[in-house]
Amino acid sequence: MTTFDEEINRYDTHSVKWDHTEEIYQKAGLLPMWVADMDFKAPKAVIDTIKERVEHGIFGYSMPTNNTKFAVQKWLDRRHNWSIDTEWIVFTPGVVPAISAAINTYTSQGDKILIQSPVYYPFRDMIEKNDRVVVDNPLVLDSDTYKMDVQDLETKVKDPAVKMILLCNPHNPVGRVWSYEELVTLANLCVEHDVLIVSDDIHFDLIFKGHHHTLISTISSDIQANTITCIAPSKTFNLAGLQLSTIIIPDEKKREQYEAYMGKMGLFAPNALGILAVEAAYTHGEKWLEELLIYLEENLTFLTSFIEERLPEIRVIQPEGTYLVWVDFRSLNLNHEELEKFIQNDAMLALDEGYIFGDGGKGFERINIACTRSTLEEGLKRLEQALRK
Ligand SMILES: Cc1ncc(COP(=O)(O)O)c(C=O)c1O
Repeated sequence: MTTFDEEINRYDTHSVKWDHTEEIYQKAGLLPMWVADMDFKAPKAVIDTIKERVEHGIFGYSMPTNNTKFAVQKWLDRRHNWSIDTEWIVFTPGVVPAISAAINTYTSQGDKILIQSPVYYPFRDMIEKNDRVVVDNPLVLDSDTYKMDVQDLETKVKDPAVKMILLCNPHNPVGRVWSYEELVTLANLCVEHDVLIVSDDIHFDLIFKGHHHTLISTISSDIQANTITCIAPSKTFNLAGLQLSTIIIPDEKKREQYEAYMGKMGLFAPNALGILAVEAAYTHGEKWLEELLIYLEENLTFLTSFIEERLPEIRVIQPEGTYLVWVDFRSLNLNHEELEKFIQNDAMLALDEGYIFGDGGKGFERINIACTRSTLEEGLKRLEQALRK
């Protein structure tokens, strides 16, 4: 048994996934396998550091130090082959607020912003809530792999009203880890047509064997100057509730503009425990991460075999990264409302409905496999029972 097999009761922890599922899904008894956090304890080094800080007992205003920035810098250098200057780092309370800040900093009301659906739904939300216009460059499912529609992208970036693209790499929910070549093509088009790239790489540490993640900024200095990179230890080490993300803005002018917007929002002193968590996780969390990746890979194999052997009517789109698995239910011939009812009322599961990620997600479900093997098995058995009914 690995530490990741430990069953931890998450009820009564204000957990969105466990305490709020009943209220959100308006139904009791669902097994929550939605929202992207993990049912695992964070690395011990993170817990110990926070415990010590809590014992200190004073939680006044706190600011990251050079050590915090060095921890981020070393992580990027060691694991992602990106050598950054610590001055490029801006701390934010999350990647979603960082994306919203980027939209407000670099675009104006009515400007167009590209997304590649089906995609993490807050992308569309942030664009629309900030009165910008979504332009979709839908991904194409080519047998079992999602690909970018480059021709369509080329047409759309040429529109001078398109000012920004929100890139998701690894892609949530379809699990693609974009190849170097795909990123070069996208980035060159964006640089040529002056479309700013906001690259959300929040899942970039969670890559399955045989795949390699590239930070788009590492491709060339031109691309780096045209990119805002959003990363965080929150998915990697299960720290989302501590709300601290790091945004890397190499271009000085763009960074000043961004910081001015953050100042306007009054965001200057981040979460004290979040700062510690970033330092501890990036400094001491590597071994834990390697073990986590093995467990997630085993969970993925377990889910894939279970579905192939016992639920042949549904199909797994093999993820290359993230712990979110995109599953194709289209052969059941249910419309998206019927599918939602089937998942919740018959299978008693709380999943992320595919349609919330865009029209191309209709007929799909997103399953979070960052849970114990026994929770995963329970979820799959619920699905099996519902399908056999
Ligand atoms: C692609 C992506 N970006 C951002 C987030 C959320 O980031 P944060 O909690 O830092 O706002 C998630 C969480 O699921 C995600 O999948």
